[in-house]
Amino acid sequence: MTNTLRLAVLLALSFIGIQATSPIPSSEITAKAAQGLRLIELGEDLEPVWKTEDEKNNLILSRTRFFDVTDTYELAQTISHSGDKATEISYGKPAHQATVKNAIAKISVKHMKENLRRLTNFDNRWYKSSTGAEASKWILKTVRDIADKKQGITVSAFRHPWGQNSTIVHFAGKKSTGPITIISAHMDSVGTVNGTDLMTARAPGADDGGSGTVNLLEAFRVLVEVGFRPTQPVEFHWYSGKEAGMCGSLAIATQYKKNDVHVKGDLQLDMTAFTPPGTDLVAALITNDTNRDLTSFVAKLIEEYTNLLVVKSKCDFACSDHISWHRRGYPAAFPFETRFEKRNGAMRTSNDTTKAPGFSWNHTREFTKLAVAFAYEMAA
Ligand SMILES: *[C@@H]1O[C@H](CO)[C@@H](O)[C@H](O)[C@H]1NC(C)=O
Ligand SMILES: *[C@@H]1O[C@H](CO)[C@@H](O)[C@H](O)[C@H]1NC(C)=O
Ligand SMILES: *[C@@H]1O[C@H](CO)[C@@H](O)[C@H](O)[C@H]1NC(C)=O
Ligand SMILES: *[C@@H]1O[C@H](CO)[C@@H](O)[C@H](O)[C@H]1NC(C)=O
Ligand SMILES: *[C@@H]1O[C@H](CO)[C@@H](O)[C@H](O)[C@H]1NC(C)=O
Ligand SMILES: [Zn+2]
Repeated sequence: MTNTLRLAVLLALSFIGIQATSPIPSSEITAKAAQGLRLIELGEDLEPVWKTEDEKNNLILSRTRFFDVTDTYELAQTISHSGDKATEISYGKPAHQATVKNAIAKISVKHMKENLRRLTNFDNRWYKSSTGAEASKWILKTVRDIADKKQGITVSAFRHPWGQNSTIVHFAGKKSTGPITIISAHMDSVGTVNGTDLMTARAPGADDGGSGTVNLLEAFRVLVEVGFRPTQPVEFHWYSGKEAGMCGSLAIATQYKKNDVHVKGDLQLDMTAFTPPGTDLVAALITNDTNRDLTSFVAKLIEEYTNLLVVKSKCDFACSDHISWHRRGYPAAFPFETRFEKRNGAMRTSNDTTKAPGFSWNHTREFTKLAVAFAYEMAA
């Protein structure tokens, strides 16, 4: 660039309010984090800002969406940022109909109901509360019991500094160690009625977090029952700390990127049970912050294996954990219970139970089918 042109560009940028900001230095992050401050990102093009723990909690109480990037900011500076660019992978189309249909026939809503009952019995699953920690122990134990020490399956806790762990199940690939197919959900929940204490607020999270969580538990149980041994590895992730700014998934996706782990794609299931009463059961494929090719592939799986109607939708900034993968340059897809703006109004309150109007077991069961199909068709 000539100097004149450079000057013109700089003037234009400062005119529209964009400044070339330099990254926050490591020393500042260490010092501020040690004082208990959190680095919070409040919008796509906004520089992250420091907030106290109380300020961060107030954002949650006022239902402001954000990423807490305190623990991952530094690494993220050095790594690629968009799952849209992960185009070297091609996904093909459904090809294991007989095997997949046999597996999904074994899905039991009774198991899903029992697991959701256990999950919603915790007062809340907040990432820093004692019941939140208990809930993560329950997930780990439940998954270990299902795995039953079977060969080729590893179950581990992913430790986080805030107390509530994430849980990871790894099916080893018969023929290769990668790329890995990931199916994910968040196991935490939050109650955000104004004026309550997040540590104690009742948050059953039946739909929000709970439905995706039991989709994964049941899909995993079915895969173990049918003796699933994929060619390439498959993982199930139950994230901690989603409602506190995607903390669990950001930590995990950032660590995978740092370790140069090859990921074929992440399928995130978050809220999968609610359907506006009297309307068709849909899977709303989220089209922003997701990978287009993987999303088209998921649409084919939904059409092949479920009774859901595919629709498209966009979700808000920082809406769920797939964005943590997307931001680390991995392909991610996010099928949601309805068009985003029509989602369950009971979310994040004490009313998010299976009794809430619109909660549908028939609906959420279809997402368990999708999880099973995704595991086979991506990695068999
Ligand atoms: C929460 O309540 C306080 C006072 O009771 C009020 O000032 C604040 O605006 C409320 N916030 C929201 C998001 O409703
Ligand atoms: C989290 O995982 C670590 C390491 O496995 C373990 O020591 C700790 O007890 C776990 N915390 C909870 C709440 O389960
Ligand atoms: C996704 O779309 C929603 C709704 O239009 C918008 O609020 C959000 O910022 C978008 N995110 C991206 C990354 O485009
Ligand atoms: C829960 O639902 C009841 C009945 O619709 C309503 O009166 C109450 O305000 C709701 N509570 C919350 C926290 O949204
Ligand atoms: C759920 O699906 C079954 C068939 O699988 C059907 O018999 C039942 O009526 C459905 N329930 C509701 C509430 O739609
Ligand atoms: Zn959620």
